[in-house]
Amino acid sequence: MPKIVLEHVTKRWGNFYGAKDLNIVLEDREFVTLLGPSGCGKTTTLRMIAGLETPTEGKITIGDTVVFDSETGINLSPAKRDVGFLFQNYALWPHMTVYKNITFGLENVRVPGEDGKMRRLTKAETEERVNEVCDMLKIQQFRDRYPSELSGGQQQRVAIARTLATHPKVLFMDEPLSNLDAKLRAEMRTELKRMHRDMNSTFVYVTHDQLEAMTLATNICLMNNGLVQQFDPPLTVYNKPANLFVADFIGNPTMNFIPGVIEEVKGSEATVSFFGIKAKFKGDQEIPEGIKDIIVGVRPEFLPIHEKGKLKGLAYGTLPAGMETTVKINFNDEILSSVVFGSIDYAIDSEIRFDIVGDGILLYDYASKNVLGRGTLEILEIGEYHRGSEEPFKIELVAPGTNPNEGVGEPGKGKKKKGLKKAKKEKVEEPAPVAEKAPVEEEEAPAEEVEEPSEEPKEE
Ligand SMILES: Nc1ncnc2c1ncn2[C@@H]1O[C@H](COP(=O)(O)OP(=O)(O)OP(=O)(O)O)[C@@H](O)[C@H]1O
Ligand SMILES: [Mg+2]
Repeated sequence: MPKIVLEHVTKRWGNFYGAKDLNIVLEDREFVTLLGPSGCGKTTTLRMIAGLETPTEGKITIGDTVVFDSETGINLSPAKRDVGFLFQNYALWPHMTVYKNITFGLENVRVPGEDGKMRRLTKAETEERVNEVCDMLKIQQFRDRYPSELSGGQQQRVAIARTLATHPKVLFMDEPLSNLDAKLRAEMRTELKRMHRDMNSTFVYVTHDQLEAMTLATNICLMNNGLVQQFDPPLTVYNKPANLFVADFIGNPTMNFIPGVIEEVKGSEATVSFFGIKAKFKGDQEIPEGIKDIIVGVRPEFLPIHEKGKLKGLAYGTLPAGMETTVKINFNDEILSSVVFGSIDYAIDSEIRFDIVGDGILLYDYASKNVLGRGTLEILEIGEYHRGSEEPFKIELVAPGTNPNEGVGEPGKGKKKKGLKKAKKEKVEEPAPVAEKAPVEEEEAPAEEVEEPSEEPKEE
């Protein structure tokens, strides 16, 4: 039923873009995750679709209904958009038990009756729905408790239960699992996925956790600086990241970025050199003439370590994580990451032989940061290599002039950090955006009201 279309949707505060020129289509019954670093515009985008934030420009359609259009002045209230919300800050009714919190929302639900007319849920149906969500969220034992008698994670589960029980056609979720512990979060992901299949709803889910986005979504909408970077199924985003930003953001351990140059191009093939290696790249798309500086993107799984490997390096460090081990290889003073299945330890500075294999090698144009192809790399020559400087090189992930907020201080945040210019190996986990949430959360309060029956059911 409801397909959601965004056309040229922009949200601007002064000259700061929260989201810029979004053109996305969320197909009916999709599970779309909005993913990206803190402050990239995920919540803003979700709130605009839901009707909690008014876009500066653009048009939003849900199903057959235009819910917002800056040209004609249409702007439907959230209540009229027929959607469910689940925000990180959930406002449970403090004076109601868990059971009452869940059933309260169900009083407004209408289902088609035998005579074709819409009717309220019967007692048995209400009970069935409460049981379904209480089982799923493991809160049966708390049914008679008040919110103040529950932990934060338990309260969050009640909020999820309350929203899911109404079986909304479109469900918006903004980091709904953030208060749960790791184990429960993993379980909830599975349950959400099953629930999505059973409910026939479109789910739009905000997260800054790439694993969550990868595992849940039918499509990922990856954002940065208010711009959509890529909108594709998770495996496409992983296998063929559209630009360096996406390539760096997705995957753990991160992709190796190796700076090099193109020596010759022929169609989708190129002779490239990097770190003293000359190699032939065979890609899957035409490579434009005239590109010189490139980045070769190699996922750690495509640097297998084995005795007969053609390339020789030294063990810089190993990070065993149980199921796999990340091995940092010092190759001519450049550090590369490889990942090995199982637990392996190499003595520091012992010799390691490895290869570059696989058909998932990526080539990026360093000027535009865009992908030039995905394919195989055949090593032709291994020569001498000495890095010019002491400093490890820095790779800019975003092309100059493409960040709409460059030089614009973030409102309310002081000076923008130089987050994009980072030393090559310094992959830092995005911190949970707790502090920054505060002002937004306050505004989100009305969202919860919307989810509650907007008119008290009067007829008994
Ligand atoms: N009401 C507002 N006025 C001015 N700027 C705002 C407002 N709301 C959000 N912003 C800014 O817009 C940008 C996008 O915010 P948004 O809340 O969409 O980020 P996000 O991607 O959800 O981040 P997080 O992962 O931290 O929740 C941020 O830089 C934020 O500071
Ligand atoms: Mg947010």
